[in-house]
Amino acid sequence: MSAAIPQLPESAPFTPEQRAWLNGFFAGIFNRTAIPSVASAAPALVPLTILYGTQTGTAESLAKKAAKVAGQRGFAPAILDLGQTDATRLAAEKNVLLITSTYGDGEPPDAAKPLHTALREGPHALTGLRYSVCALGDTNYTLFCQAGKDFDAALEKHGATRIHPRADCDVDYDAPFESWLHASLAAFGSTHSSLVIGHSSLPPEPPTAPSYSKSNPYAAPVVSVRPLNAPGSAKEVNHIEFDLTAAGSALTYEAGDALGVIPRNDPALVAAVLTALGADGEEAIPTPAGELPLRRALTEHYDLGKPPAPLLEALGLSVTPSASPPPAPNSPPLDVLDALQSVPLPKHPVTYWVTLLRKLQPRLYSISSSPKAHPGHVHLTVGAVRYEHAGRTRKGVCSTFLAERALAHGTAQVFIHANKAFRPPADPAAPMIMVGPGTGIAPFRAFLEERATTQAPGKNWLFFGDQKAATDFLYREELEALQRSGVLTRLDLAFSRDQAEKIYVQHRMLAAAAELFAWLEQGAYFYVCGDATRMAKDVDAALHQVIETAGSRTPAEAAAYVQALRTAKRYQRDVY
Ligand SMILES: Cc1cc2nc3c(=O)[nH]c(=O)nc-3n(C[C@H](O)[C@H](O)[C@H](O)COP(=O)(O)OP(=O)(O)OC[C@H]3O[C@@H](n4cnc5c(N)ncnc54)[C@H](O)[C@@H]3O)c2cc1C
Ligand SMILES: NC(=O)c1ccc[n+]([C@@H]2O[C@H](COP(=O)([O-])OP(=O)(O)OC[C@H]3O[C@@H](n4cnc5c(N)ncnc54)[C@H](OP(=O)(O)O)[C@@H]3O)[C@@H](O)[C@H]2O)c1
Ligand SMILES: Cc1cc2nc3c(=O)[nH]c(=O)nc-3n(C[C@H](O)[C@H](O)[C@H](O)COP(=O)(O)O)c2cc1C
Repeated sequence: MSAAIPQLPESAPFTPEQRAWLNGFFAGIFNRTAIPSVASAAPALVPLTILYGTQTGTAESLAKKAAKVAGQRGFAPAILDLGQTDATRLAAEKNVLLITSTYGDGEPPDAAKPLHTALREGPHALTGLRYSVCALGDTNYTLFCQAGKDFDAALEKHGATRIHPRADCDVDYDAPFESWLHASLAAFGSTHSSLVIGHSSLPPEPPTAPSYSKSNPYAAPVVSVRPLNAPGSAKEVNHIEFDLTAAGSALTYEAGDALGVIPRNDPALVAAVLTALGADGEEAIPTPAGELPLRRALTEHYDLGKPPAPLLEALGLSVTPSASPPPAPNSPPLDVLDALQSVPLPKHPVTYWVTLLRKLQPRLYSISSSPKAHPGHVHLTVGAVRYEHAGRTRKGVCSTFLAERALAHGTAQVFIHANKAFRPPADPAAPMIMVGPGTGIAPFRAFLEERATTQAPGKNWLFFGDQKAATDFLYREELEALQRSGVLTRLDLAFSRDQAEKIYVQHRMLAAAAELFAWLEQGAYFYVCGDATRMAKDVDAALHQVIETAGSRTPAEAAAYVQALRTAKRYQRDVY
């Protein structure tokens, strides 16, 4: 006998969306708990640990979704950051779902590094563990989903049982994640076998009014776009402001969060792709938003950047990934237009070619304003990506949309991407050391505004650098004013091209090693933002060196010191 699932009375003060969510929630609860009669004992819930490794929050939010679904399917889920577990704890687990992204060049997220290393080294006895891995990644990177692959292989090597094959998810991860989740839960012994695979099968998010997200972005009015570099600079960084209050959006964020921006492709590039396809742009094309004319579909929905492997294969071209920038003149096609122009196009309907393209993805930008200093507004600091290749100027999709067209367009589709692992210290008296060259300054402008607005007493030290002081000293007046007011205790500058030899932020760190180490000993938080491939690695090496020299530590002790900073969440990075 099953109990009737309650429905909210019509008079209850909820919107239709809230009502639908709550009714769904009740249905979930009743499906799980109401089936056994008084006489029959309720089946024991299956323990399930959902481990996540994340740099910018995606894996964490998927872990939460997985926990909600698992909770409705007869499991007792617990969520844990990979940084909060070790091989010994792992050995005590029975059932594990592991969701991790990949960063750097095929590396795990920062917090997951100790476990990743420990599992590589071993030996560990994980014979009692059943698991499945969901790897998040981006096929634009050569080492696609490498961290997930590593964890998957290491768990198996140490004797754990893979109960469902790993899912390797590209940037469009929703559908593969759901399929993996449902199949993994079924393999673990989900109490509900008739699962619906598809977009609608995850429970909706709890109602917040109104809830904007990647799939339901907010059309933010673009208030202003102003260049931050002086004329003559080799760089083009823009300060961009959006209004968050239009239509009562109630969109909120915290210093440290990122803003997701859904770009629109350059009309000139779209026109060139249409010519290459022999199309006029009016052809009806399926898109996630329904059928649209081809020109609009290519502008708003399809990625015209790196050509996807299926397109290259269909054109009979090599699918070897192109080398890192700068590309050789004879490199494989860099974008979809290169690919379409490189061979005579086999005769196929235009829809065929479009279905081989990837969906246009949002770009993330570290928010450069504090909501306390700019209520109802959000600011970004965006470097425009432009380079020449094979006789054509290549433009970064989103950075040049923001630089060239967003203001005229009037609005940009945005959403808040919370980054809980990147926050100013909770203790307003704790010192902050911030290393943010180039656009890496963005979140630190927000952190400093936050500390100024809240009159936090903690000391603040910023390392900033760029090419030339005369043209590239981003936010110079603001930073100097913060110095005068005493909020910015110390500002160390590294302009790399004002002298013959390169001077970078890490050189300034090493020159101030004794003071920097003293701040760390006083409990300072150490933050890094900006270029991941070169700067963040060199700054990490300099941090170790500072601790070795000023703190009289061996390299191994310095590594342990840095690891302790990480564990205490006093070493936080927002690198890209
Ligand atoms: C968490 C996070 C925070 C970020 N914060 C900021 C921020 O505050 N400010 C900011 O400016 N950016 C930031 N970024 C980067 C931002 O998300 C975009 O990646 C960036 O703006 C480029 O996007 P795009 O669409 O303009 O370029 P795309 O169209 O995506 O093109 C960029 C790609 O072009 C290629 N490329 C670039 N230069 C060359 C070259 N010289 N030769 C050959 N190929 C090249 C590379 O493959 C590169 O990945 C952040 C990224 C993340 C993940
Ligand atoms: N992953 C992505 O999608 C993506 C997209 C856009 C940008 N990015 C990265 O984001 C970075 C930010 O760009 P940006 O233009 O704001 O700044 P940037 O290129 O990082 O330059 C800022 C300053 O850092 C210097 N620098 C170069 N190498 C360094 C190193 N190893 N250590 C310390 N400093 C170093 C630069 O000097 P010199 O220029 O004189 O060498 C410059 O003075 C870019 O480097 C780019 O790689 C990534
Ligand atoms: C700087 C940077 C480096 C990345 N490196 C890789 C990589 O080497 N391999 C890969 O498959 N994905 C890579 N990615 C893509 C991320 O893994 C992907 O965006 C993931 O969804 C992020 O999840 P998270 O928010 O949980 O960290 C990288 C992303 C960034 C911003």
